[in-house]
Amino acid sequence: MRIDIISAVPNLLDSFFNHSILQRAQEKGIVQIVVHDLRQYGLGKYKQIDDYAFGGGAGMVLKVEPIVNCITQLQQARSYDELIYLTPDGETLNQSTANTLSLQKNLLLLCGHYKGVDERIRTHLITKEVSIGDYVLSGGELGAAVLADAVIRLIPGVLNDETSALTDSFQDDLLAPPVYTRPENYKGWTVPEVLLSGDHQKIAAWRLEQAIEKTKVRRPDLAKKLDLE
Ligand code: ADE
Repeated sequence: MRIDIISAVPNLLDSFFNHSILQRAQEKGIVQIVVHDLRQYGLGKYKQIDDYAFGGGAGMVLKVEPIVNCITQLQQARSYDELIYLTPDGETLNQSTANTLSLQKNLLLLCGHYKGVDERIRTHLITKEVSIGDYVLSGGELGAAVLADAVIRLIPGVLNDETSALTDSFQDDLLAPPVYTRPENYKGWTVPEVLLSGDHQKIAAWRLEQAIEKTKVRRPDLAKKLDLE
């Protein structure tokens, strides 16, 4: 998979993609992440990328031309399965969207800034609008990072133990059960007996029961969807 990200503040994204799982995914050649500095496509001597909003009001708007120029150049090299704009008024990201996107080959993410992008970009170029939650961030960069992380970890070969993404919270609409590691007893804080039993069937049943219980208590909306009693 290849993910291109267009940003007015590309430095914000550097360190995020150059550590841990995402760094390893790139080193293994499973995913290629390329961040593009919108300023390089800016207009005139000062590489202008934003301007005042027509009709007045506070805040600057990202201009059409630099974004079109950047996207056009990228599209000349490959076609994109989705052109995604990160915005608080997009469709809220969930595991199901991450699963779908993880099957794609080329994704292009556009980060908004200031008051956002000129609406014509959204109307004519963007194929999907994604929000990472009902709050407003200073720009789409954190949204792009969250989206890319959620998607990339689902690609086979990215996680060492491939089954570990399958047991994540939300993969089956249930929250994940609790996990424990050594020591078995830390100053009287003990681990549930069943996990030490070696009985895999019993362990699986306990985990499912815990997942169901946790989902009922913490996310009644999901429990209702699953018809959990
Ligand atoms: N840009 C600003 N706020 C955002 C949000 N909540 N999700 C995605 N992109 C954003």
